Amino acid sequence: MIRNYFGLKETPFTKYVPTANLYRSQAWQELSARLDHIVKSRGLGVITGEVGAGKSTAVRALSDRLDPIRYPFIYIADSALEPRSFYREVLSQFGVTPAYCQRDARRQFDRILMDAYENQGKQPVLVIDEAHLLSASMLAEVRFLTNFRFDSLCPFALILVGQPELRATLRLRALEPVRQRISARYHLGGLEEHETKAYIEHTLKQAGASRPLFSESAIAHIHSISRGIPRVVNNLCTACLLDVIAQGGQLVDMANVQRVQLDYEQL
Ligand SMILES: Nc1ncnc2c1ncn2[C@@H]1O[C@H](COP(=O)(O)OP(=O)(O)OP(=O)(O)O)[C@@H](O)[C@H]1O
Ligand SMILES: [Mg+2]
Repeated sequence: MIRNYFGLKETPFTKYVPTANLYRSQAWQELSARLDHIVKSRGLGVITGEVGAGKSTAVRALSDRLDPIRYPFIYIADSALEPRSFYREVLSQFGVTPAYCQRDARRQFDRILMDAYENQGKQPVLVIDEAHLLSASMLAEVRFLTNFRFDSLCPFALILVGQPELRATLRLRALEPVRQRISARYHLGGLEEHETKAYIEHTLKQAGASRPLFSESAIAHIHSISRGIPRVVNNLCTACLLDVIAQGGQLVDMANVQRVQLDYEQL
């Protein structure tokens, strides 16, 4: 509907954005540099950010720019992740059936990842998304993982990604050994106001818009409601465009944003 009405090639502000079309804010570029560093140094990274800020998208972009042969990428986003399913996930990606007993699965993990590194020139990248939801048993396993072979050479990079509570979790005394081994951390906040404007314009351009569809004041208001969080910006922009269509207009202005804001606040 939005696409046809405004004569676009694609529908803008969708959930999935191909990596090549992503908007690269200053923070995004810093986050990407840290992620590259964690991968190359086979370190432990912790990435936090507000809900909808773009954490998982940044991880997807990382996996897209890595050579899949040299950097086998294992992405796990399971809010109920337990050690058993973690090992099953990793080992099956290496074509190995995990042992039933957790201790044996750990040994397999140790052997397979070391072999991949030493004999096949691979540097696996393990990403645990939604890590703020990890159970106590999985956190204890993370502690084990970060103490790989008594801290001698680690053959893989481990990246924990989650909402801001993850930082508080890692401050727990039992997790101090994990915290001390973090080699890079980054907190992804919302976009700055000029970036929200650039994000909206970029997204519309990618969708094939040849003229502005939002007034300056509408963008400023969208920024203040969304605090520059891309998912919220997307939702507001979509709702505003639908509102313009309903009104038979051509440009989102302040009145559209205010109407949409009322609905947004009632949710
Ligand atoms: N750099 C970007 N360029 C374009 N769109 C983006 C970008 N970052 C995020 N988005 C948009 O914002 C949405 C939310 O991003 P994402 O799912 O990565 O957030 P998140 O931080 O992982 O959220 P959650 O805490 O809910 O897991 C994406 O679906 C995408 O539409
Ligand atoms: Mg996410």
